[in-house]
Amino acid sequence: MKKTIMTLGAGVLAAVSAVASTDAKMDAFISDLMGRMTLEEKLGQINLPPSDDIVTGQPQNSNIGAMVAAGQAGGTFNIKGGEKIRELQRLAVEKSRLGIPLIIGMDVIHGYETVFPIPLALSCSWDMVAIERSARIAAIESSASGIGWTFSPMVDISRDPRWGRMSEGAGEDPYLGSCVAKAMIHGYQGSDLTADDAIMACVKHFALYGASEAGRDYNTVDMSRLRMYNEYFAPYQAGVEAGAGSFMTSFNLVDGVPATANRWLIEDVLRKEWGFDGFVVTDYASIAEIPVHGAGDFATATVNALRAGTDMDMSAMAFISVLKTALDEGRVTMTEIDGACRRVLEAKYRLGLFENPYKYNDLARERTQVYTPEHRAEARRIATETFVLLKNDNNVLPLERKGRILLTGPMANTAANMPGTWSVAANLETPKTLLQGFKDATAGKAQVVYAKGSNLYTDAVTEAACTVFGRDMRDSRSDDELLREALAAAADVDVIVAAMGEASESSGESSSRSSLTLPACQQRLLEALLATGKPVVMLNFSGRPTVMTWESEHVPAILNVWFGGSEAADAIADVVFGDVVPSGRLTATMPRNEGQIPIYYNHLNTGRPKDPNGPAYQKYRSNYLDVDNTPLYPFGYGLSYTTFDYTDFALDSNTLGVDGKIVASVTVTNTGKRAADEVVQFYIHDLQGSISRPVAELKHFDRISLAPGESRRVEFVITPDVLRFYNYELERVAEPGDFEVMAGPDSGHLSRLPFTLK
Ligand code: BGC
Repeated sequence: MKKTIMTLGAGVLAAVSAVASTDAKMDAFISDLMGRMTLEEKLGQINLPPSDDIVTGQPQNSNIGAMVAAGQAGGTFNIKGGEKIRELQRLAVEKSRLGIPLIIGMDVIHGYETVFPIPLALSCSWDMVAIERSARIAAIESSASGIGWTFSPMVDISRDPRWGRMSEGAGEDPYLGSCVAKAMIHGYQGSDLTADDAIMACVKHFALYGASEAGRDYNTVDMSRLRMYNEYFAPYQAGVEAGAGSFMTSFNLVDGVPATANRWLIEDVLRKEWGFDGFVVTDYASIAEIPVHGAGDFATATVNALRAGTDMDMSAMAFISVLKTALDEGRVTMTEIDGACRRVLEAKYRLGLFENPYKYNDLARERTQVYTPEHRAEARRIATETFVLLKNDNNVLPLERKGRILLTGPMANTAANMPGTWSVAANLETPKTLLQGFKDATAGKAQVVYAKGSNLYTDAVTEAACTVFGRDMRDSRSDDELLREALAAAADVDVIVAAMGEASESSGESSSRSSLTLPACQQRLLEALLATGKPVVMLNFSGRPTVMTWESEHVPAILNVWFGGSEAADAIADVVFGDVVPSGRLTATMPRNEGQIPIYYNHLNTGRPKDPNGPAYQKYRSNYLDVDNTPLYPFGYGLSYTTFDYTDFALDSNTLGVDGKIVASVTVTNTGKRAADEVVQFYIHDLQGSISRPVAELKHFDRISLAPGESRRVEFVITPDVLRFYNYELERVAEPGDFEVMAGPDSGHLSRLPFTLK
């Protein structure tokens, strides 16, 4: 992989014969290069214009092409196609004065053309090997098509399913979120960033974007530093520990200051406290949004963003248009501009781009390594691990391959909606529809009949907003006509499968919802199907936890399938027809209604907690008049086609010394008839701290496979380090005192044991 190529354009950089292995070599190389750069060229490197205008067409004739040739762009993003990207790189290398290669980014957040389940779904696998593998395949494919940098992982903790971008993250838990962040970064970056199939990760959105008020995208965020440090920061810090090469700032305020201009956040926390040594890119035009937040005019915003420690300006054209004057006026220093430029160049160096600017432009790789049968098979297998079986009365599932099956609902016959939101590189025509998946799975054995049954929404305008980017699936018939057709089809079938819920773009960016229940026309269809008296299986497509209180009371079987990626149809059929046992577990709490939001398992106690054994409503206790405090389905929850017993939960000691450890263990037995995976979960509760501590915090989990009748003893080693948290002074401490350790299949069904930290 290490080649000796180096003729970088007219300006001619000093040749490097091999990728330098030490920082000193890199420093010397970049110092030499920067010594020959003009101010304009430095500002060019920290400018990241979008590529919109060359999604089709030729780079030479586009704005971006001209900017690249003039040395005014350090890179660009969201451009697809190896040849086009190669041409752009050629302009940088051969036409710009110094021939500095571009870094080309893309939102490869759950696969490239082989699309994996949306990140929220992936997290529900609790399978870090699978998640890392999905990122590795995404890196292999995107790098084969010219991409060297992905704007992923998104690690924003969210406790508010109204926020559509919950789909892009790993749910509500900081520990699980940290594990997922590390797995994804390792998958993208591999063990050697200079490898042709390694791409740079970008941890986003720093910070706290998932806490936007009322779940409305881009809205205000405001929280205590204690909450930041104890409940939201961990996955970002894990990203630094995993060696992520870049970070992206967020759109929101942090402590009243837009994150992009928040020096405390970027310089003090990210760089000084956590030791991040990569580069920081802004989110899309977020510098231009600072004046809209009311935090300074455009020039001030630009100056503040640079001085806060952001290095690269995505899409605002702020650094390139403002910083020269700002330097003349003494508002920024050359050292600050140099610092940003150096960090962007370092990223290119670490990727090996100076050594081989065309490392991502091997067009043969693009032809042979994208959307391969092997990658698709892995995507299908991984997708089966992400579906969460919420309910399965009388073992309606799995279905037998016999008789007549009605497949109905707005999601039953759409290809373009299978991959899920923000699948930027997906080919929307290629995924199988669920209908095709069912037909293939039952060929020669059962007959699958189809009727759409309902649109997504009665209101075409709302539906259009949920099916943008080529995902339109609307049927022009009326609700009544669609319903009649489905009921007629239902008359002579043995079982009904209703593919319902959200469409691909009902979640994702700018897709907040205030009501999370099933849209009325789909609800009406579901009620009518149930009234036939036939067994009904609901497949809930969703990019977030939705409200399914009515469904959980009335529908015998519910499988939450999220958005399973390009292979979703086959994967769903694998689980529905029992070739694979469902094993997904929720990573975000499912509320009973929207009024409970934010609802999350690791909450602090109130001074007046509700008595769990008392009456439904308790005056002067922390509860609601009209709904219980408990969620509909708790964090960690998910059923299987088999059953598991937890027995003999024990601790090898009840006291833990400052340098010691104790081992909690529990025996898990597969008491059913199918071999299956179980996710064994361990939580900690710090009973009394110098500050209030959560009622439970996930600290360990183990995804295990058990044959029928097989038992396994699963262990959790508790050290003082596991008990650490940030105290009022924001010091990370383990405080002596009493704790509980809990074990079980989910956060709502736990056994507890006490122990003391001495
Ligand atoms: C999103 C980012 C994304 C960027 C580039 C923004 O609107 O917030 O997550 O990486 O666009 O596409």
